[in-house]
Amino acid sequence: MAYPLVRHRRLRSTDALRSLVRETSVGTNDLIAPIFVTEGTAVKDEITSMPGVYHWSLDTLEEELAEIVGVGIQAVLIFGVPDHKDATGTSAFDEDGIVQRAIRKIKALYPGLVVIADTCLCQFTDHGHCGVVHTTDCGAEIDNDESLALLAKAAVAQAKAGADIIAPSNMMDGFVAAIRQGLDEAGFTNTPIMSYAVKYSSAYYGPFREAVHSTPQFGDRKTYQMDPANAREALREAQSDVDEGADFLMVKPGLAYLDIVRMLRDRYSLPIVIYNVSAEYSMVKAAALQGWIDEKAVVLETLTGMKRAGADLIITYHAKDAARWLKGN
Ligand code: PBG
Ligand code: ZN
Repeated sequence: MAYPLVRHRRLRSTDALRSLVRETSVGTNDLIAPIFVTEGTAVKDEITSMPGVYHWSLDTLEEELAEIVGVGIQAVLIFGVPDHKDATGTSAFDEDGIVQRAIRKIKALYPGLVVIADTCLCQFTDHGHCGVVHTTDCGAEIDNDESLALLAKAAVAQAKAGADIIAPSNMMDGFVAAIRQGLDEAGFTNTPIMSYAVKYSSAYYGPFREAVHSTPQFGDRKTYQMDPANAREALREAQSDVDEGADFLMVKPGLAYLDIVRMLRDRYSLPIVIYNVSAEYSMVKAAALQGWIDEKAVVLETLTGMKRAGADLIITYHAKDAARWLKGN
């Protein structure tokens, strides 16, 4: 059947009709807002390459939390920028590490806010890698199995501080199993794991690494993060995390990987999370500041595309703005 019997435009003729036949929606309950916490006092430093995103110290953090909660966002993802870095990233699991202190503070102020803790070592290691490094005659090597014990320790420290969800982003093999076992042994059998299951080695993390000073001091992350050219491999990464007990599957970055989101959506019933990463944000902001794009329209279209691709939840630096726009402000 074709024109003139079929006229697609019939269902597009008014706002109300378009709204009735709309297939996808974005809600504030889909959004997770990242927060960067740092040592010191009275810190509210804008991250140069991410306008509108700040480093907060514990005493200023309340301002940001009030805004996040005020616009109706229910979940935050915590990143720490520590003063002290060393070879094994000890401040990642120190009870008084910046992330653990921030979690305690947030839960004291807003017990109902879902606090998700990013679990990795790269912000805390002096070499900037996500695991333990061994230097050999043929160069440096990231020791997978030795890193697992440290990651489990970090996850337990975060759960003890009050984290509601543990989000491991390190891409070591077996990290979900190791963290699950660590959490269970410490009594946190009900703390879910949001696994960065499919995380690509991406140039889109540039502004983030600058913000948290986690650029690797040598080499790159290609021996543990995935090759952007691979899709079938994403299924293997996702499957192993499901088998190891992951409660959520994340795909990261977002925009260049929507096909991967769709693949996981079609194969798994777990909640799928997409990470709209730092450079995706920076590019939109840069163009918006030049007046070259309509920021609100572009952001809402992007978030809708991520939902349409199959994501249930979106981690995005646009979260506060998007929540305001969705409310009509
Ligand atoms: C740490 C981590 C990174 C991001 C989230 N957790 C950086 C990396 O793996 O290099 C990137 C987030 C972003 O770019 O917004 N492992
Ligand atoms: Zn890392």
